[in-house]
Amino acid sequence: MKVLQVAAEIFPLVKTGGLADVAGALPQALARAGADVRLVLPGLPAIADAVLHQKTVCEIGAAFGAARVRLTLGTMPYSGLPVYVVDAPYLYRRGGSPYQAPDGNEWSDNAQRFALLGWVAAHIAAGEFDPDWVPDVLHTHDWHAAMACAYAHAHAPTRAARVFTVHNLAYQGLFPAGDFNLLGLPARYMAASGVEYHSQLSFMKAGLKFADRVTTVSPTYAREIATHEYGCGLDGVIRGRGGDVCGILNGVDPEVWNPATDAGIAKRYQADSLVGKAVCKHALQTELGLERRADAPVFGVVSRLTSQKGLDLVLAALPGILQRGGQLALQGNGDRALEAAFEGAARAHPAQVAVRTVYDEALAHRIIAGSDALLMPSRFEPCGLTQLYALRYGTLPVVRRVGGLVDTVVDATDETIRTDRATGFSFEPASSMALEVTVDRLLHAFGQPALWQQLMRRAMAQEFSWDVAAASYMRLYAQCRTK
Ligand code: ADP
Ligand code: GLC
Repeated sequence: MKVLQVAAEIFPLVKTGGLADVAGALPQALARAGADVRLVLPGLPAIADAVLHQKTVCEIGAAFGAARVRLTLGTMPYSGLPVYVVDAPYLYRRGGSPYQAPDGNEWSDNAQRFALLGWVAAHIAAGEFDPDWVPDVLHTHDWHAAMACAYAHAHAPTRAARVFTVHNLAYQGLFPAGDFNLLGLPARYMAASGVEYHSQLSFMKAGLKFADRVTTVSPTYAREIATHEYGCGLDGVIRGRGGDVCGILNGVDPEVWNPATDAGIAKRYQADSLVGKAVCKHALQTELGLERRADAPVFGVVSRLTSQKGLDLVLAALPGILQRGGQLALQGNGDRALEAAFEGAARAHPAQVAVRTVYDEALAHRIIAGSDALLMPSRFEPCGLTQLYALRYGTLPVVRRVGGLVDTVVDATDETIRTDRATGFSFEPASSMALEVTVDRLLHAFGQPALWQQLMRRAMAQEFSWDVAAASYMRLYAQCRTK
């Protein structure tokens, strides 16, 4: 089966969050499962300059405001998978993030930039740009790639089944209605039954409406997004898709996240020999200038600083955590007010709080390896990968019972401890009080080394395998092709 994967970012070339990890790992797992997989990526500098052996497969010409668009086919560094790069320097060859200028504002021409990505993918799916390779499945990720579903539906006579995966419903790709004229879609698509959303243009809706199947990244989030509380205004559209929506849990790439082989941590370790974990903790405390105490629980955070992640709850609970002897190692950037507040806490308590407002992949590994627990009290969480990495590193997650966090962390209760199923700590209300109560439960367990080791070992034994996820996607692809 030929499968075309379309995404705006991909680990390790361009990454702003978990989407990149998925776009990096899922195609490889699909290939292991027997699929003939290719990728389509925008020609952002970090992608266009890194993809190997590129050859032009099609001179597309002028499109979406760019004078020259070219489609190349090359191979991904690391995975070696074939990848189409949409080479449009006018739209993609810029500094900053894939979505924002260096000043933090969205690029003003994002509608054209990501319409082009989808439009090219739809034409590949129709066999128009590369007749030598015509996919059976067009699988698009998040709003940046979603327009492919509308173009494939509208123009391109494609036999490819269309699958759309929602990684985060909160980011919808909303643009002024006037931008619709830039898209080249028939006027009937600017309707409630199409991409119109309260007099605006919604790229996310193109995926939700025109994919044959919609998936999201955990079973619980799949149920949640059909509700008013978590549907971000699109719950009606999602309910309208009925049984076409399902959740497939993300996995962990063991080549990247594995304490037994991780070359970037102070000492490697595994569940049956945890000495290295203590070395990593000592090294982290030293690196961050925290008091080097083995008996002080280190709470790690590796996160985008946005309201989604509930880190205001951590801030509010912090005095209580510090009073109980805890330490905080926080890495994250985003919301300036949160950054400043955490930096202020680090200045006030330098031996107990360390904050790094940077994006740094290597430091993320050292924090996850060196912490005892990971704080992730998200307000909503489609899947969450950081807690999966933490589990693998024996760093017990403290999470809110929401989205993928429900599906991946087993709260330590008397019953789950007795039956040796507990892997972390979870709580319901989005309040700092609830977080503090949960931290108290954690500290109680931390004070009992035998119990803590049992929890660590159970956490590290969790298998969140991309091969399992890939098998589910393969079944889904087969189902929608026979529909
Ligand atoms: P989301 O995609 O919502 O940000 P996930 O938990 O799915 O949440 O994925 C986050 C990914 O981004 C993880 O790989 C995590 O390690 C990484 N990450 C987040 N913030 C940083 C940072 N400041 N530096 C390095 N990696 C980060
Ligand atoms: C999104 C979500 C996160 C998920 C990731 C990868 O960024 O916020 O929960 O793990 O996508 O699917």
